[in-house]
Amino acid sequence: MAEKAYKHLLFGNRVYLRRLEAADLPRTLKWINDPEIMAAIGVRGPRSAKEQELWYERIAASRDNLVFALCLITDHRHIGNLSLFAVDYIDRNAGLTIFIGEPKERQHGYGTEALQLLLEYGFTYLNLHRIYCKTNADATAAIKMYNKLGFRQEGILREHSYQFGRYVDKVMFGMLRQEYLKSISGEFSGKE
Ligand SMILES: CC(C)(COP(=O)(O)OP(=O)(O)OC[C@H]1O[C@@H](n2cnc3c(N)ncnc32)[C@H](O)[C@@H]1OP(=O)(O)O)[C@@H](O)C(=O)NCCC(=O)NCCS
Repeated sequence: MAEKAYKHLLFGNRVYLRRLEAADLPRTLKWINDPEIMAAIGVRGPRSAKEQELWYERIAASRDNLVFALCLITDHRHIGNLSLFAVDYIDRNAGLTIFIGEPKERQHGYGTEALQLLLEYGFTYLNLHRIYCKTNADATAAIKMYNKLGFRQEGILREHSYQFGRYVDKVMFGMLRQEYLKSISGEFSGKE
């Protein structure tokens, strides 16, 4: 584990994560202004290029909001973003967001692999104790992915978010460090 963490940090079999760079912003702006992604990750848009630049300056200088570009190993194409936000170095918890911006790159297993890398980074490199997220109750792919990776469903936030003329429920998921360690040792079925 230590060898993997330090030599190949954030590299998987088909995807890798790197910090988001200024050169990624035009692509990221296009994705973030997609209404489906806005609703999924809770961004209120549309965002202008200037707002996106200011956002980037803030996160580039921050240690508690870490944004990663999800890239394919074969051709280094940047296809989506992940983040650990509100990283609390005392309580040792953080929220996560994930999206694949290019619709044709969804459903190939890239999201699952990227999230595994982010969990490894959060739990074994940053020494976090808990990682959580909230997702739309009808986000089938995201919910399958969180369940498969061993997240626990922690609750439903009823009519929590106003999206396109209606209030929708959000589902809270969380994973504790000991659950992560069990899941990677194959002991955790995800259904306990
Ligand atoms: C959520 C998301 C990141 C998942 O990434 P992905 O690469 O598409 O997902 P994967 O291919 O790894 O699949 C994960 C699981 O969801 C299933 N799945 C993927 N897309 C699906 C779809 N459209 N409908 C039903 N199931 C789907 C897969 O079959 C897989 O389950 P399985 O292993 O039981 O077969 C991606 O779909 C996405 O960006 N969606 C829009 C933004 C979003 O919802 N973000 C989450 C916010 S919390």
